Amino acid sequence: MRKPFVAGNWKMNMDGESSIALVKGIAAELDGDIRERVDVAVCPPFVYLAEVVSAARSTGIAVGAQDLYFEKNGAFTGEISTAMLKDVGCNYVLCGHSERRHVIGETDELINKKVTAAISGGLLPILCVGELLEQRDAGKTEEVVEKQIRAGLAGLNEARAMAVTIAYEPVWAIGTGRNATPQQAQEVHAMIRGLLAEMYGQKLAEQTRIQYGGSAKPDNAGELLRQPDIDGLLVGGASLKADSFAAIFRSV
Ligand code: PGA
Repeated sequence: MRKPFVAGNWKMNMDGESSIALVKGIAAELDGDIRERVDVAVCPPFVYLAEVVSAARSTGIAVGAQDLYFEKNGAFTGEISTAMLKDVGCNYVLCGHSERRHVIGETDELINKKVTAAISGGLLPILCVGELLEQRDAGKTEEVVEKQIRAGLAGLNEARAMAVTIAYEPVWAIGTGRNATPQQAQEVHAMIRGLLAEMYGQKLAEQTRIQYGGSAKPDNAGELLRQPDIDGLLVGGASLKADSFAAIFRSV
């Protein structure tokens, strides 16, 4: 049985004060049995990670970073290593978010190095995949997602791949208010699970959590989460307010 996993991606938003207030607001909503039923994480900007980790202590909220660099240390100005993220208390890290792929220009090869470095350093990567609108319209969704997953997980054996959460985020649905329908999302999630089974066997495929992301909101979360292969959500805009984020994780 896969425990649902809802993560908030704050992107380049918030400041120190509002970050702490948001974590406290989320913590207040993560009470009683809901904590047993869902894993909740927040991914703030790097500079607020330490404060957020400290505010999240004993609340059941896990903390993730939005990115990392694959080298251990050295002359990589502006970059952040796995060890640094572990040191400030992160558990998770997003790898290959669509904004990093399509705005910053990250390649599958770079993303694979990041996923690999995250696992080696003891972090749990959330590998983000998803097609552009023109790729969906051209009927290439499965091909694109399969390529991103095969490349993102390249070189990982089953034991290491177990650490990975997949987030399927159709790029046309991110920040646009236009979410994939639960059926559209379920179709791709089922395909991803089948691919994982082919790559690693049934056990890993059944244990791996596959999140949906792209305009997830309180009013569509329940229906998305009811799909058999949707195991959680990666939430952008709606994770910036405690009440909307809580309404989302409370709908599991
Ligand atoms: P959104 O972002 O919920 O604002 O569409 C999701 C994401 O980019 O992870």
